[in-house]
Amino acid sequence: MRKSIDGLLLEIPPEVYDPAEDSFLLAENVVINKGERVLEVGSGSGYVTLFLAKKFPFSEFFCLDINFQATKSTQDNAYQNDVSCHIINCDLLQPLFSQERFFDVVLFNAPYLPVIEEGLLEKAWAGGKSGMDVINKFLLQLSKVLKKTGRCYLVYSSLAESTQFEKQLQKLQFEKRITDHLKLAREKIFLCEISFKK
Ligand SMILES: C[S@@+](CC[C@H](N)C(=O)[O-])C[C@H]1O[C@@H](n2cnc3c(N)ncnc32)[C@H](O)[C@@H]1O
Repeated sequence: MRKSIDGLLLEIPPEVYDPAEDSFLLAENVVINKGERVLEVGSGSGYVTLFLAKKFPFSEFFCLDINFQATKSTQDNAYQNDVSCHIINCDLLQPLFSQERFFDVVLFNAPYLPVIEEGLLEKAWAGGKSGMDVINKFLLQLSKVLKKTGRCYLVYSSLAESTQFEKQLQKLQFEKRITDHLKLAREKIFLCEISFKK
């Protein structure tokens, strides 16, 4: 499917997440400073990164996704919209551990629904039994790639079971601030900012 959003021309294959309310919540609330290195985890079509790269052009953007169709889609859409970014096809952050604390900003509109599904497209929303399975794994890895002065913007849902997530934030010396939310029919979608405790 081809569509135009916020001045970006996007080609979105059927196996790739079509940008929705949660994508817009993330894209519209993030501020990037000049020269910062930004990593988007789970870039899907690339919409969020392309939107931010156009808005904050003097920064360096990296994207990754577990779905190879999504990484290809990010790459094609970046080319189509004349945006430069580095793109990796991988599962979360482990391949980036060798570049210790490399990123100023990490973004993740995560799979956050409490469902177990395995397909390529379904990985966009299936957050396992708790809804937080992917997020909990991500959080453990985040502390290895985020600069001590950096920040992470994460999207999740009120439908997810967040006890383990909250415990892990404490353990890893992170603090969390809800910066915005959306009310949908059956859930609230939160955007939070995570940073190391000062
Ligand atoms: C809700 S979609 C968001 C897509 C895009 N960022 C947006 O906002 O429109 C979540 C994305 O995370 C990716 N994803 C899920 N699990 C992942 C993992 N373990 N590692 C990397 N990417 C993952 C999915 O393939 C999907 O593209």
